[in-house]
Amino acid sequence: MNSRSPAQVLSLADFAGDAARFIAAEARNAIASRGLFRLALAGGATPAVVYGELARIADLPWTKIQITFGDERCVPPEDSQSNFKMAKLSLFDAVGIPEGNIFRVRGEIDPEEAALEYEQKLAAVAARLGESRYIHDLVLLGLGPDGHTASLFPGSPSLEETTRNIIPTIGPKPPPQRITMTLPLLNAARHIAFMVDDNSKKGVIDEILGGHSRYPAAAVQPDAGQVTWLIGPGKK
Ligand code: 6PG
Repeated sequence: MNSRSPAQVLSLADFAGDAARFIAAEARNAIASRGLFRLALAGGATPAVVYGELARIADLPWTKIQITFGDERCVPPEDSQSNFKMAKLSLFDAVGIPEGNIFRVRGEIDPEEAALEYEQKLAAVAARLGESRYIHDLVLLGLGPDGHTASLFPGSPSLEETTRNIIPTIGPKPPPQRITMTLPLLNAARHIAFMVDDNSKKGVIDEILGGHSRYPAAAVQPDAGQVTWLIGPGKK
């Protein structure tokens, strides 16, 4: 039984700016401690404003920041549904992050091949750092109205994966074919931050925080890490 610390809940008045400053502080701490910040980006629509504010924060050492993706839709990188494209437009194009620091999931190729390729990419870094599994400093996650997170959807076999870090999956949220980080990889992180700015998801959050939820997002409980909920005021 892990003695997991309870989740931290931060109500943000300025969702985009406050979340960006939270991420920047995590980056500075990780770089000061280990010389590198390993950050997994969330997909969907919510994060774009946060990434836009993150891009405006001065003096972040982007050469020391390594980017992965919690999930990706199986579409080409120039597709409007691509999580990579959303991050490129809101963040990467605005900061001088070296291309080699961005681990893009190749959504344009066969999903199983893309998952295996990504698994190997993370495994190579983990091996270099003496880790049995890639350890993120911070994983950003969104939350769906059905309690999904990344592309881990209710009732999906992907929730039962205990070995692989990256798998192809099918979800009810279009586009259906996706690649997702699994619970073992997410739960190896030092810090998880859910970002939600939508009052219609309050009931889902309350159930998860209540501690007896079967939502996929409730299964994100880092073995030795912290969970923080970054909650915005919600769209007016
Ligand atoms: C995706 C996301 C997904 C998203 C939630 C919330 O690729 O769709 O990873 O998990 O974070 O569905 O999406 P919104 O931020 O658009 O509400």
